[in-house]
Amino acid sequence: MNHKEIAQKFLDFFKSKGHTIIPSASLIPENDPTVLFTTAGMHPLVPFLLGQPHPGGKRLVDNQKSLRTDDIEEVGDAVHHTFFFMLGNWSLGDYFKKEAIEWSHEFLTDKKWLGLDKKRIAVSCFAGDKDAPKDEEAASVWRKLGIPESRIAFLPKKDNWWGPAGATGPCGPDTEMFYWSPNTPAPEKFDSKDKRWVEIWNDVFMQYSKNQDATFTPLKQKNVDTGMGLERACAVLQGFDDNYKTELFAPIIAKLEHLSNKKYGSSPAVTLSMRIIADHVRASVFVLAENKVTPSNVEQGYVLRRLLRRSVRHLRELGINISVEAGGVSVQKGCMKGLAEIVIDIYRNECPELEKNRGFIINEINSEQFKFMQTIEHGIAKFEQILSEKKAISATDAFLLYQSFGFPLEMTAELAKERGITVDKQEFEKEFEKHQELSRKGAEQKFKSGLADHSEKTIKLHTATHLLHAALRKIVGPNATQKGSNITPERLRFDFNSPEKLTPEQLKQVEALVNEVISQGIEVQREEMTMDQAKKAGALGLFESKYGEKVSVYTIGTFSKEICTGPHVKNTREIGKFRIQKEESIAAGVRRIKAVIE
Ligand code: ALA
Repeated sequence: MNHKEIAQKFLDFFKSKGHTIIPSASLIPENDPTVLFTTAGMHPLVPFLLGQPHPGGKRLVDNQKSLRTDDIEEVGDAVHHTFFFMLGNWSLGDYFKKEAIEWSHEFLTDKKWLGLDKKRIAVSCFAGDKDAPKDEEAASVWRKLGIPESRIAFLPKKDNWWGPAGATGPCGPDTEMFYWSPNTPAPEKFDSKDKRWVEIWNDVFMQYSKNQDATFTPLKQKNVDTGMGLERACAVLQGFDDNYKTELFAPIIAKLEHLSNKKYGSSPAVTLSMRIIADHVRASVFVLAENKVTPSNVEQGYVLRRLLRRSVRHLRELGINISVEAGGVSVQKGCMKGLAEIVIDIYRNECPELEKNRGFIINEINSEQFKFMQTIEHGIAKFEQILSEKKAISATDAFLLYQSFGFPLEMTAELAKERGITVDKQEFEKEFEKHQELSRKGAEQKFKSGLADHSEKTIKLHTATHLLHAALRKIVGPNATQKGSNITPERLRFDFNSPEKLTPEQLKQVEALVNEVISQGIEVQREEMTMDQAKKAGALGLFESKYGEKVSVYTIGTFSKEICTGPHVKNTREIGKFRIQKEESIAAGVRRIKAVIE
């Protein structure tokens, strides 16, 4: 079974259980200040997990593009990735543990669906602690389904609880399913520390809300949030104990073998480099396919840069010629570019955004490789020199390598680690912050998987963003439409189309108009309608059907109408005073406004 068939079966199975199929949301979340990327299927669904009705109903199923930078260090083993597809089924206050577990079991083992060997399945459930009891309810469903006691492990919060690390919001115990993947009989007893038991699916029972004071209150709306890694499912079903042997990665690995004249698996170092490159190039292609981010030194752009530069370094490790020669560039068949082409070809039919943005993706990857090639050799020489003189790498050295040679901080740390030298990461980060090149802390926090922080301030800024959009279209012209939006609890940032810089008068008018609408105290109304109705009603927004059949449309009097998932304030008066801080250009024909509310 290839990945397409597995994903289709998952969607079909849950459709047959009354779920609405919804498309994958963007990999780069808008209006969610807490994360740089969509790290799980739950992210785009947060408002609905918190109680807002979803246009698709109470049962949903999807195949969500996800990216987790907190797994970046794990990449290199057989089963971890930065970018992956997460298959998920959702109950928004509808069914709970019994049905979720029974359906997971049916989908995994029934011949009509995946038909996996039941004798190779083990599960874990929450062991219980001061906050919540042992999850006997989940375990008893597994027992009834015939999973023997020796294959049920009870584990603490660290393993069997899902929710935002450190953040507040819905969370709860989970039950995880493991599959014994080698071609040997599975041991009687499940040992969660034995890596040959591969976690393939996680059913989260969101039944608590974590409060500010770290206590837990039972939730009114109990949800089910599940996640099955498509790449892992693919390996398991094809009898591999290595995701990189599936059709999703094998063509990239084959190309690397050809370029390096080395065999995958011939040594741990070769395997590691090939996996890192394959994973990172694939992730970079999907990030670029969003057509919102290019490699840079901040936020998503920095992650992209890190992924690409780390790939370039590992190409070098494999002995693939990436050097710059006098008078021109000698890139062996433009290798990063060639690898990206392979990724695009693999997904050509399933993910049209890749093919659509092929030129842009290839161009960006090529130019980032070119930039880095010019400094990497000197940078590595400098690194070796520092190391031989001082036998250590300080934060100042790391900063120098970053500033003069474009070495991402993590790359220097990785190089040092390979030489058995540990670096003080906190010192590194302090040094970087001192130079204000990167707001590392802020970025690091966003790398964590977690729930969107729908704090009051964020909600106000979100509604203010709709007002700003409408005001720009009135003052600057109807073509001043949204290109991008990003909200933190401190400010909003809005990118829009405009060939020219806004005049000071225009900025004043926009600001005044937004404040005028705020002071009128207009109700913000939410309606559900089909995409066609939304279009006819003149709503702004992406008309690629993001949520299947129905969408939410937010209307603010006669002033603004947008397709959006929310949430928003009830009345514009709640927003407060709106002030534009800055207007600048970010690309040809695209302007950016930063604004705050006071
Ligand atoms: N949200 C859960 C996870 O990511 C399903 O594992």
